[in-house]
Amino acid sequence: MIIDGKMISQSLKDAMKIEVDALAEQYGRRPCLMVIIVGDNPASRSYVRGKIKATEYCGFDGHLVELPEDVSEATLLAEIDKLNNDPLVDGILVQLPLPKHISEDKVIAAISAEKDVDGFHPENVARLWLNQHCILPCTPKGIIELLDQAGVEMAGKKAVVIGRSNIVGKPVAKLLLDRNATVTIAHSRTKDLAAVCREADILVAAVGRAKMVTAEYVKPGAAVIDVGINRTEDGKLVGDVDYEAVLPVAGAITPVPGGVGPMTITMLMRNTIECFLNRMNNK
Ligand code: GUN
Repeated sequence: MIIDGKMISQSLKDAMKIEVDALAEQYGRRPCLMVIIVGDNPASRSYVRGKIKATEYCGFDGHLVELPEDVSEATLLAEIDKLNNDPLVDGILVQLPLPKHISEDKVIAAISAEKDVDGFHPENVARLWLNQHCILPCTPKGIIELLDQAGVEMAGKKAVVIGRSNIVGKPVAKLLLDRNATVTIAHSRTKDLAAVCREADILVAAVGRAKMVTAEYVKPGAAVIDVGINRTEDGKLVGDVDYEAVLPVAGAITPVPGGVGPMTITMLMRNTIECFLNRMNNK
């Protein structure tokens, strides 16, 4: 089975569009997401375009704030502070990576935790690991949603996550744990990685290396979630999984593009609605 993230994402956005119209009626305004981009990295530009498009599609307020590559850290922090203090702004996202002269840690921590739609603020990260109410990071949240929608049971299953980043590997492992999977976090230094992965009923690949996960990594019937975004030499977008080789072995698999990627943006929309509701209801 191919898990069609694009289709699932579309139906979730269609539902949110209707929900947002109802929220506008009820509360007298729409959820508002502000996206900040610094410089003109082409990949970042393209991601941000997708986020703004989804914002418009779902009927949110908000727009893109474009700052030049050489903007000072102080100016960026001042811009964030302005948005933190704007009662009509529900969500703030600063597209990463940032130019080297700006501290990403400082910028992430500067965003008000209640408006941190990425779920990157240390307070949200801590709350996730403490099982407290928090904003979940979008990609991990989207992966769990895809598994749910595809009817993949997590409770009692073995899950292996390859990759230990703060944005994907660690939080997705935590969310799988919360669904009562038994979770192994593997990485590039794991000994006999293929054998470890072959134990998995659910395999999540988030390493950033094209075609790293071959058929020998996959237990027959396993659900394979490909979080990779890699460009081949001829500019084609591919994941971390050798899709053609793994497709006949896997029980379910997410394609790249059209798998996890669209879900990340859709969960960003979900988080914006949640931030709006939390703020409107003063939670
Ligand atoms: N750069 C790559 N992925 C992301 C993301 O999910 N959020 C932000 N803010 N920047 C990113």
